[in-house]
Amino acid sequence: MKILIFGNGYLGNRCKDVWKDEATVSNVHVVSKHDALDEIRKFQPDVVLNAAGIKGKPNVDWCEDHQLETIQGNTLMPILLAQACQEVGVYLLHMGSGCIFYGDSPHEDKAWREEDFGNPRPVYSRAKWAADLVLTTLPNVGIARIRMPIDWKPSESNLIDKLASYSKIIDVENSVTIVDDMIDVFHQLLEKKATGIFHVSNPGTMKHRELLGLYKELVDPNHSCEWISNDDLVAQGLAKKGRSNNFLSNTQLAQFGITIRPVKEALRDTIQKYAQAKKRG
Ligand SMILES: NC(=O)c1ccc[n+]([C@@H]2O[C@H](COP(=O)([O-])OP(=O)(O)OC[C@H]3O[C@@H](n4cnc5c(N)ncnc54)[C@H](OP(=O)(O)O)[C@@H]3O)[C@@H](O)[C@H]2O)c1
Repeated sequence: MKILIFGNGYLGNRCKDVWKDEATVSNVHVVSKHDALDEIRKFQPDVVLNAAGIKGKPNVDWCEDHQLETIQGNTLMPILLAQACQEVGVYLLHMGSGCIFYGDSPHEDKAWREEDFGNPRPVYSRAKWAADLVLTTLPNVGIARIRMPIDWKPSESNLIDKLASYSKIIDVENSVTIVDDMIDVFHQLLEKKATGIFHVSNPGTMKHRELLGLYKELVDPNHSCEWISNDDLVAQGLAKKGRSNNFLSNTQLAQFGITIRPVKEALRDTIQKYAQAKKRG
């Protein structure tokens, strides 16, 4: 399978690391349908992965004051790329975000289904949700939503590095995505040209306390932090807007015969590998 990846950033390159010669990462910054079409015609891929997006630097609060850049990268660019893919009949897997959901779902188990409507407030999540809303009307398109990537490879975008670096941490529980599993699931979705929306999160939920407990056990026995409530995050000026905390249900992957490791198993394995990677330097 020949895969063309748009988005020369953290997750696009993590996929390339694993898929090696099967994949090419485009360096082109897409601002028109023709930018995308030229790349697709040049590389002649079987499938396209959109790992491009604007998530804000140093963090998502940046998007609150850079609305147009955020909309350009997270809503317009995916539409332009989808237009190009439709024109040449190439399957597109678009990376969405589970952060379009805030709080508990209306379902009894509180988990958000793939088909549920988002309820986002911040600019980043609204722009991501807007892309999902329109791309789901197209044939030959899949949307893979992930949440809070957790990776064995140290990176400023890795939730392990982020939480380990904060002195004050909110005590919350979430669905999360282990990056090794995400890369494997994406490959299967691309192979199957699976259409629809997929929650690519590991079954079960994780508390920040669990991650940092394993971090202390396996990586740094001296690690410590102060635990604060979710409301304190904004009240203490640590963030402009409250972060999305939620549980995702991922029933759609099973329809394509795709399974994903439970979060408890995957988390310990990943932090063990992270500790080894840190030791190697
Ligand atoms: N990492 C997470 O926590 C997370 C969680 C849920 C969903 N996601 C989604 O996953 C995708 C990848 O995230 P990531 O962590 O890999 O982000 P990343 O490291 O910031 O990579 C995104 C890349 O896309 C590029 N880009 C932005 N606009 C573009 C355009 N118009 N054309 C081509 N490339 C463009 C960026 O370039 P510049 O740096 O030059 O802008 C950057 O290299 C994004 O869609 C993000 O919303 C990420």
